[in-house]
Order: sequence, then C-alpha cells, then structure tokens
Amino acid sequence: MADISHSSWETELERISRSAAESVSAAATLESVEEVRVSLLGRKGSLTAMLKALKDLPLEEKRRCGPQANTLRDSLQQALDARRTELERAGTEAALSGARIDLTLPAAPMPRGRLHPITRTIREITGALSQLGFSLADGPLIETERYNFEALNIPAEHPARDMQDTFYLAGTRTPLLLRTHTSPVQVRWMEKHAPPVRIIAPGRVFRHEAVDASHSAVFHQIEGLYVDKRVTMADLKWTLTAFLRKLFGPKTAMRFHPSYFPFTEPSAEVFVSCLLCGGKGCPVCKRSGWIEMLGAGLVNPAVLRNVGYDPERWSGFAFGVGVERIALLRYGIPDIRLLYENDLRFLEQFGP
Ligand code: PHE
Repeated sequence: MADISHSSWETELERISRSAAESVSAAATLESVEEVRVSLLGRKGSLTAMLKALKDLPLEEKRRCGPQANTLRDSLQQALDARRTELERAGTEAALSGARIDLTLPAAPMPRGRLHPITRTIREITGALSQLGFSLADGPLIETERYNFEALNIPAEHPARDMQDTFYLAGTRTPLLLRTHTSPVQVRWMEKHAPPVRIIAPGRVFRHEAVDASHSAVFHQIEGLYVDKRVTMADLKWTLTAFLRKLFGPKTAMRFHPSYFPFTEPSAEVFVSCLLCGGKGCPVCKRSGWIEMLGAGLVNPAVLRNVGYDPERWSGFAFGVGVERIALLRYGIPDIRLLYENDLRFLEQFGP
C-alpha cells in the first residue's frame, strides 16, 4: 500500500472508518471485538498500514492526512473499549441472573467466644445469691496484714496464720501480701457502710501451695456477709439451704460440722449431699455421700468491734465458697489445672 496516491489514501481511510464502525457494533463477543481490533490496529491491521503509508505522501498531504488518521485511530480505540465494557457488563448480568443463589442457605459460621467455666460458676453462684438480696462487692488483691488478718481477729502470733500460707510482696516498707481469702472484703465493706449488710464478694485469692490435681496457688472464692439485728445460725442455715438448692437442685441436703475460723463464732464447715450419687456414696465423695462445700459461721463480735459496729446491736453471718471446687464437681472436671491452661479443646466443651 506504500504506493497509493494521496487521493486514494483518503478514500481508503474513509472506507476503513465506515466498515470499522459496522464491525465494532456487530462484534457480539469479547473475542470478536479483539478480532476487529487486530484487523484494524494490529501489526498487520488496515489502519496500521495506512499510518505507515503516510510517510510516502507529499509533505502537504502528510500535514492534512496525518491528523485525520490519528483521530480515526483514537476514535476506533475508544469504540472498541466501549464495546468491550458493554459486553463484559452484559455478561456479568447474564451470569448473575442465570445463577441460582439460595438466600435461605445458612451463612458461614462465625466463631463465638464463650464463658470460662470459672466465670460461669461465679455467675451462677452470684446469680443465686442476688435473688436472695445480696449485692456485689469487691476489694483489692494486694492487701495489708490488717485487712487480711488482724481485723479478722487473726493476730500476728495466732496459729491460724499458718492455716493459709501467704505470699508476701518483696521490698515493701509495711508488709503487703496477696490476699489469702476474700474475707478482707467483709472488713473493707463494713468500715465504709453502716449496717444492715448483705453482700457477696467474688474474687481471686492466693496461697503458697504446691500445685496438684486439686490445689492451685491462685484460685477463686465467693465471700458472703449478712449483718442485721438478731441474726442467728437459723438465718445462716436458711440462706445457705436456699442458695445451695438453687444451685444444685431442690433435693440437695446440707450438713453442718463444727469447725474453727477466728472471724466467726461459732464456725461450721458445710457439706452438701454428693452431687453425683445424691448421697449413696461414690468415688467423688469418697463413699461418704457428702461433699465439703464451704466455710461459714456467725460473725465474731470481735470483728464487728474492729469495724466500729456495736456487737450488742448487730449480729451477722459470713460464709466463703471455693469456686473451683464447685466448678470441678459441676462439670466433672478431674484436674484443677485444666481450668488454667486455656486449652481451647477443653474450653470449647463449655456452652456458649
Ligand atoms: N475465709 C475462709 C477461708 O478462706 C472461709 C470463710 C469465710 C469461713 C467466711 C467463714 C466465714 O477458708
């Protein structure tokens, strides 16, 4: 085509322009759009040939025809792009309207967190007790000797200090320790509030203890404290019975053993009929039919005096429950250490 004259060059350009417009709009698939592009603008395309032939035209003609050819090339390129987009969009729509999307299918599952068995147990216990009119209280994990011991009637040389091996914080001017029980919350609450008192205080406690299947150096207790006029052991028994039956079922029986705590007098260890065998005797209750559940008693008048309550006017009861103990029993967990390892295979066994 290098030898075409300028007049036939222009005619040819016009011809290409017309037939190109037709073939672009006639292209019904992306493949045919591409074929049209190659036939016009490809290395051997007709318009490409025309552009190459430009250089052989006389200068005058070159000036006139050059821009015409370039404009045609640009508009063809645009037309091809537009047609391609049009076909792609139509294709997607067809694919979508043809596809069968079942909107009733369940969505992909979302992993859900769940409560730790200790948290669940604490919530069950505090739930049962709040229905009986107790409200929540708490206190610090790091305590002074006064709150953990002295105000609770456990003086420095008292052998009861050995009942609970204590972690002391190193290098403090006045001794600070990790609370060995939740009973300091009793003192902190009574110091700040006038009677009557109905509180429960769940929380972490610490004891310097060798860890095994049933002992942990860090565990949880729930403290209960009730102070009012003429509170007696009968109130304690009624409250604990109601609470334990709510927790373990209406057939639960309870037994009090005389015991000793410096901050209660009299003191009792409370047993419940075995949750597993119902009292007949099984390995969990060591064939006795009973399981030790909590420590309790009437608040020692010395404790009331220590917080500025008049023991002639006020009396009360207190109890302390071990949370892990209950969790192990309730869920049939054989080893306390499972509760602290955060192994998902273990934790996922406890409902949502
Ligand atoms: N504080 C006692 C303990 O840790 C439990 C307890 C609390 C006993 C309240 C009596 C009254 O063992």
